[in-house]
Amino acid sequence: MHVALVYNVKNGNTEVETNEHVREESADDTVEVLAPVKAKLTRDDTYLEWDSEETIQAVKAALEEGHTVTLIEANEDAFQKLSALRPDIVFNIAEGLRGASREAQVPAFLEFLGIPYTGSDPVTLGICLDKSRAKEILSHYKIPTAPFVVVSSLEELNSIQAPFPAVVKPLYEGSSKGVLNSSIVRTPEELHREVKRVLEQYDEPALVEKFLSGREFTVALLGNGESVRVLPVVEVRLDKLPPGANPIYSYEAKWMWDQPDHPINMYDCPANIDAALDARIQEICKQAYTVLRVRDWCRMDVRLDETGEPNIIELNPLPGILPNPDDHSCFPMAARKVGINYNQLLNNVLDNALARHGMGR
Ligand SMILES: Nc1ncnc2c1ncn2[C@@H]1O[C@H](COP(=O)(O)OP(=O)(O)OP(=O)(O)O)[C@@H](O)[C@H]1O
Ligand SMILES: [Mg+2]
Repeated sequence: MHVALVYNVKNGNTEVETNEHVREESADDTVEVLAPVKAKLTRDDTYLEWDSEETIQAVKAALEEGHTVTLIEANEDAFQKLSALRPDIVFNIAEGLRGASREAQVPAFLEFLGIPYTGSDPVTLGICLDKSRAKEILSHYKIPTAPFVVVSSLEELNSIQAPFPAVVKPLYEGSSKGVLNSSIVRTPEELHREVKRVLEQYDEPALVEKFLSGREFTVALLGNGESVRVLPVVEVRLDKLPPGANPIYSYEAKWMWDQPDHPINMYDCPANIDAALDARIQEICKQAYTVLRVRDWCRMDVRLDETGEPNIIELNPLPGILPNPDDHSCFPMAARKVGINYNQLLNNVLDNALARHGMGR
């Protein structure tokens, strides 16, 4: 097969050394916990969701085990290039540039061109990126998810009933963009501060959700229809965060505190949970996969509420796939646990898409 790998690549030159950045962004008084941490981060998080050259090359190499692969960057020329190239199928990892429909744009023009592609369709990608839309659908099907309100302006704060304690996050970002250690709010003043930050920094509405106080998990699913497979549940050990940090998997936790020279081993895979909880987590994740019409693969974040009931936080139908095990990327980690290596994982996703289209290898 001729496979086109369509991607967005991170510009590697935007790293800056800092703790000052944390002081700028962490509006609460917990910054002392960060002080001993020497970290590098991207000052401008605009392209945080995009893939590194290393990931793109690793995906290409994996697909080349059985196919001819052409790389196409998802920029303004991509439509013309794909129209001319006419690959048999696209392996889509493009996150898109801007707006709530950014992940849907490449699949939308592939549908326009009649070119098959891996993963979910534009409708599902758009709905899952706008976390409120995904949660509305989950709620309709009685799949547990935290109560929430969407706030589009500071004036709206006068008329909403916030579910304190709450988490405030941008409505349609990923990779913990805009979810900071300070994003848990307990008072109207803190709520105002965090909503203001989201509105100003991301120029998009804020999602204000009831804080789910229990353990956190992330769950990788592969396949379609009856053969959807749930990979071993990963626990994100929030108890391993630095002392004083709020119990959320924040931007700081994801990108700053866990560094190769002082790693925080935050993951248990498989999670140390009893069979009943494991079964319940798997059940709600499969239901979410079905009702949101996810295809081929997806990673979902789950958190227990105060009663121990798992709730869906969000779905990632374009999951992160860092190839280096030291980077603790959860989808490849869960796959490795059941003997599926990185290359096999990517070829499995491709095969799922080929099977949907009735295309042999
Ligand atoms: N309602 C909530 N209750 C408790 N914690 C929450 C809630 N919403 C978000 N969090 C915390 O914030 C983290 C990031 O939130 P979320 O997963 O929505 O962001 P994201 O940027 O889309 O994540 P990803 O990096 O997986 O794309 C979660 O992993 C969780 O720790
Ligand atoms: Mg998440």
